[in-house]
Amino acid sequence: MKRLTLVFICAASLPLFSCESDPGKPNIEYMPDMVTSSAYEAFSANTITKDGRTMMAPPKGTVSRKQEPFDFGASPAEAARAGKTLDNPVPESDLVHKRGDVAFARWCTPCHGILGQGDGPITRLFPLPPSLTAPHAQDLADGQLFHIMTSGQGVMPSYAQQIEPRDRWMIVHHIRKMQYDAQVQAAQGAPAAPSPQVKP
Ligand code: HEC
Repeated sequence: MKRLTLVFICAASLPLFSCESDPGKPNIEYMPDMVTSSAYEAFSANTITKDGRTMMAPPKGTVSRKQEPFDFGASPAEAARAGKTLDNPVPESDLVHKRGDVAFARWCTPCHGILGQGDGPITRLFPLPPSLTAPHAQDLADGQLFHIMTSGQGVMPSYAQQIEPRDRWMIVHHIRKMQYDAQVQAAQGAPAAPSPQVKP
């Protein structure tokens, strides 16, 4: 009987606890767990993690699922080795040429010019790059062109971070097309056309 009375009193007093008189005031949180955990900025220092960074470096040897192996150093000798070892894995198509054209226009024309003549708009401020339709560039193997985009060459920076490998291979197709067009033009007796100038 005593127990029944206790249960009754508890049940009757429940509404008193569950309703807060001021609806703007937060209720008491029971075990909020991680809801109110302190937030860290991704690039801020961190005293808890092993390497002292909030966004920890991946364990050594980790390879992203999209990452393609590129086992070459950054030197002309390695570029030559890439030229002997790598073949363009992307088959040619109209779509590939279109995308290669767009990627080249976006990333390479500031220096190399739209037709690859080495006369892009920033060349007034930057050392003149060589023509990509000249015999030297024509003799570079596909893998060598890919290596130059991936690792850079001399003062030309690497474009590995900006351009996906597949797009770099499409640019290789685009360079070959520019070289072919320039050869056809030269055979017709026309001087190498300067790239149409784009204002920087
Ligand atoms: C910031 C300017 C700049 C940009 C952007 C740039 N390049 Fe270059 N590129 C150069 C310069 C300068 C050289 C000469 C480097 C050297 O050997 O010192 C060069 C060299 C090259 C060569 C070697 C040519 C040869 O005959 O040896 C290739 C191929 C090439 N670039 C392709 C590209 C492609 C493809 C892109 C776009 C993904 C690109 N470059 C973007 C400045 C640039």
